[in-house]
Amino acid sequence: MSELFDVLNPPGFRAEARAQGLTLQRALYEALKRGIVQGRLLPGASLPGSRELAQELGMGRNGVVHAYEQLATEGHLQCSRQGTVVAALGAGVHGSGRAEGHTEGRKGGRASADGERPRRAALSRRSEGFHRLRDPAQELLPFMPGIPALDAFPIAQWDRLMAQSRRHSGSDALCYRDPSGEPELRQAIATYLRAARGVHAGADQVFVTDGTQQALELCARLLADVGDTAWIEHPGYGGARTALLQAGLRLQPVTVDAEGIHPPEAWWAERTPRLVYTTPSHQYPLGPTLTLARRMQLIEQARRHGCWLIEDDYDSEFRHDGPPLAAMQGQVQDAPVVYLGTFSKTVFPALRTGFMVLPAAVAEQAAGVIGAWAPRGHAIAQRALASFIAEGHFTRHLRRMRQLYRGRQVALREALATHWPWPGEVLGAQAGMHLVLSLPEGLPDHALCEAALQQGLSPRPLTAYGTGGIGGFNGLVMGYANTPAETMVPLVRTLASVARSLA
Ligand SMILES: Cc1ncc(COP(=O)(O)O)c(C=O)c1O
Repeated sequence: MSELFDVLNPPGFRAEARAQGLTLQRALYEALKRGIVQGRLLPGASLPGSRELAQELGMGRNGVVHAYEQLATEGHLQCSRQGTVVAALGAGVHGSGRAEGHTEGRKGGRASADGERPRRAALSRRSEGFHRLRDPAQELLPFMPGIPALDAFPIAQWDRLMAQSRRHSGSDALCYRDPSGEPELRQAIATYLRAARGVHAGADQVFVTDGTQQALELCARLLADVGDTAWIEHPGYGGARTALLQAGLRLQPVTVDAEGIHPPEAWWAERTPRLVYTTPSHQYPLGPTLTLARRMQLIEQARRHGCWLIEDDYDSEFRHDGPPLAAMQGQVQDAPVVYLGTFSKTVFPALRTGFMVLPAAVAEQAAGVIGAWAPRGHAIAQRALASFIAEGHFTRHLRRMRQLYRGRQVALREALATHWPWPGEVLGAQAGMHLVLSLPEGLPDHALCEAALQQGLSPRPLTAYGTGGIGGFNGLVMGYANTPAETMVPLVRTLASVARSLA
């Protein structure tokens, strides 16, 4: 059961429990509960017998039995003589429709049905299972994926445009603003997308957001209802998983192969999605490009089944083996595609600015709803960004970064070819800001990343992207955009010596 492998990550299970200071029983309980609440372990899914799982995880059988029992008491699992299965939604788990009989120690600030007094200072059920508290300093370490070359951003130019925007803006810029974004920025984005990405869109279809994360949250709430199914790529982007789950959607992971996302044909009828999240230009994190044939199939099936495709085009500007590929959104007239873009990679992440392009059929209606959900400000920064694009600084910066990242990518690959002790396969390096290095069996990616962090390096473990089930794929996701080329050799050597000490 590949989902269970993803949730528990058997090769790294003991090390992770130790790192979190948990007993193995507690770690098993927490991991299973998280998997169920997040919808990664679906209702009806069978769990292995306690003896088998204990062996797999290298722990005592009693610990597994007790963890199963506790989860069953809470309504997350059903145990019978036939075996142990994940309980159905009606049992009140999975973040919605809470059952009164749920015995977990948390009772939020609301009165429970049996008249028990409400208790304060507890988070909602939907916040269970979400946890990401990373020291922000880690984002700056070598090999952290997704961070652009921060010191190569033309900050003086940006400061000038910000000052100019402030000078030219009246006090109206300090008020609540159009929730769809400043008109000049929407126009600049539409013009850029038409020319650079082949996206068909008028400015009235462009909605400025606080990055892709907010765009995904808005898409989930605008286009789907609680309990609807969303397909996500497997392995895939954790941010998408989080956004869709917190909107109450049921997630169906769909595997990715060398041609991109690959849903079994029968699923369109059997597990009909409302949303399909995909990264066609450069699948995150493995890197394949969704082929034209697959794009056409997706569009045709989405039309037939009344579902929306969400195209996350997060780093397509950086293609190292030729010109950037056209976006899926523009390949067919009126495709049921919502196109998402972000300035986190092309400008800088702290700007927290991205956008979504909605199909014309829903854009006008959506504008009103977004107004109710997400009041918007930041007029001065948005106008500065509009000038940055319209005056050509954006395309100039992209051209420079394309060259810089290509050089850093080559330097990293050469350093790996020379100093990495195993013949590791490199995936997804043809585009973007990261590559994936496969690891040999016996060198678990979680353990390696933990040890590498002690040496000031921050590659991410591929299994954390939900990949464990795919042939046990085990690897490192390595960002190179914010790591100077001349440092690649010493950094890879350090990583190699950490790896040797673990293998
Ligand atoms: C696949 C993918 N999409 C989008 C983003 C950008 O998200 P945001 O715009 O919220 O910073 C990232 C950042 O790492 C990403 O990896």
